[in-house]
Formats: sequence, C-alpha cells, structure tokens
Amino acid sequence: MSAKIISVLNHKGGSAKTETVFNLAAALRLAGHRVLMVDLDSQSNLTESCGLFIEEGEYDITHSIVRNLPLQALSFDNLPDLLPSSIDLATAHGHFSNNIVGYFRLRDILSTIREQYDYIVIDNSPSLDFLAINSLNAADEVIIPVECKPKGLRGISAVINLIDSIQSTTNEKLRLSHILLTRKDNTALSKQTEEFLREQYGKLVAKSGIPSNVSVPEASAAGISVMEYAPQSKGAEAYEAFAKEVDKVGLGV
Ligand SMILES: Nc1ncnc2c1ncn2[C@@H]1O[C@H](COP(=O)(O)OP(=O)(O)OP(=O)(O)O)[C@@H](O)[C@H]1O
Ligand SMILES: [Mg+2]
Repeated sequence: MSAKIISVLNHKGGSAKTETVFNLAAALRLAGHRVLMVDLDSQSNLTESCGLFIEEGEYDITHSIVRNLPLQALSFDNLPDLLPSSIDLATAHGHFSNNIVGYFRLRDILSTIREQYDYIVIDNSPSLDFLAINSLNAADEVIIPVECKPKGLRGISAVINLIDSIQSTTNEKLRLSHILLTRKDNTALSKQTEEFLREQYGKLVAKSGIPSNVSVPEASAAGISVMEYAPQSKGAEAYEAFAKEVDKVGLGV
C-alpha cells in the first residue's frame, strides 16, 4: 500500500501550518506509522524545527523538483523523516516558465518513494502559488489549519475554491478532510470563532482543536515534538487526539 499524502495548507500566515505538520507527523509516527514530512516552504521553518539549516550546496527538495535529482529524505532518531527545503525553493517556479509539467513535479517525485511510507505530510508557505498547486496535485487530502480568531477566518473560502478547482481538473481524488482550529484560547472571540466555523462547515471541522499552549513553540524550538517535550501538556494531548481523527479516516490509497 502506498502512502496517503496530506497537504496542510492555508494562505493565511501564522495559522500553525508548520506546528501542525511537525506534531501531526510525529504523533502518527508514535502511533507506529512510517511518516515523511515535506518542507515545501522556502522559509524552511519545518526544516529548522528539525534542528537543521540547509547550507548552499547541500541537498534540499528544490534539487529534486527542479533538476530531478533523486530524493534524499533525512532520518532522525526521534522524528519522522524529512525532505528539507532552503531559500532556493523560492526560485523553483522560474525554472518552469509556466510549463504545465512544473505543476506536477512534487506528485512525480513523491511517487518514487510513496511505497516506503504510510503517511506523507506536506508543509506549505502562506500563499496559493505554484508550490501550493504542486502540493494539491500531489495530495490525497488537505487539512486547513485556522487560527481561532475572527481574522483567522479570512480567506478560507479562497483555499476551498482552489481545492475544488484542482479536484475538478487535475487531481480528482483530492478532498478537504479537516479544518483544524489552532491556537484556541478562553476568550469570547475565540469561542465565537469556533462556533461560527462549526456552524458553517459542520463535520469538516475536526473535533479536537489545538489550544494555545506554550509547550508547542517550546518543543519545536528544542527540535522535538510536543508529545516528547511535554507529554502531559494540553498541546500534546490535542495533537495526539487530532492524529487519531486523521488516522481513523484510514490508511493508504
Ligand atoms: N498551539 C500553539 N500554542 C502556542 N503557539 C503556537 C501554537 N501553534 C502555533 N504557535 C506559534 O504561532 C506561530 C505561527 O505558527 P506556525 O509557524 O506553525 O504557523 P504557519 O502557518 O506555519 O506560519 P507561516 O504562514 O509563516 O508558514 C509560531 O510562532 C508558532 O510557534
Ligand atoms: Mg509555516
């Protein structure tokens, strides 16, 4: 069976895409799955969370996307595997000068290692650009993390429209699996935002939202998942519960 590919996407910056990829992937690994994370953001925050900074000349995913070099996933003792990124990824689009082939590069390169994993989880930059379309053409499922504040709601429909248009044109199997509330707190604004989203999107909104919890940024700054950093924390419990929801949908394609 080949990996289920999940893209974590929202063009709103700071919606906890990277923390979600890092901790969801780690929780799926702790549940016994073979997991690969893909850093598809030239900001390289996910790569940094794994304690890495890719220097010029070292391998990053741009080499495979642009020059078709074999994928070199990195392995760690206590984290899922990683395809790292560097600032070079920002130049990827220019190499294809709008050639349609460019929009399927991620799908094609991941197909070479898909059999080796149960889940592949992709982190995206805060935009709906060339790389986001690559991500949606490669994915089976999309998770939209939404910061639980009124301003977090802005633009969700643009993400959903893009998913719909990719689904109806170039990637029929693609579907939105979850909207994930992130950075929830006890304020009235946070509660109203959650109510609004649950009313609007019903079961698409994951049962387990992620609370604001200092252990989440502390863990990624330390290069370990929140489950390892502070197993009893609210952040760890929430990401574990969300991973169970994701896993319940089922493995493989
Ligand atoms: N549950 C949480 N509790 C506390 N802080 C959090 C939580 N989730 C995310 N953060 C913090 O919020 C900030 C934004 O999170 P993150 O980097 O994951 O967002 P992003 O959507 O990936 O951002 P970008 O759009 O820039 O890629 C980070 O500093 C992160 O550590
Ligand atoms: Mg990010």
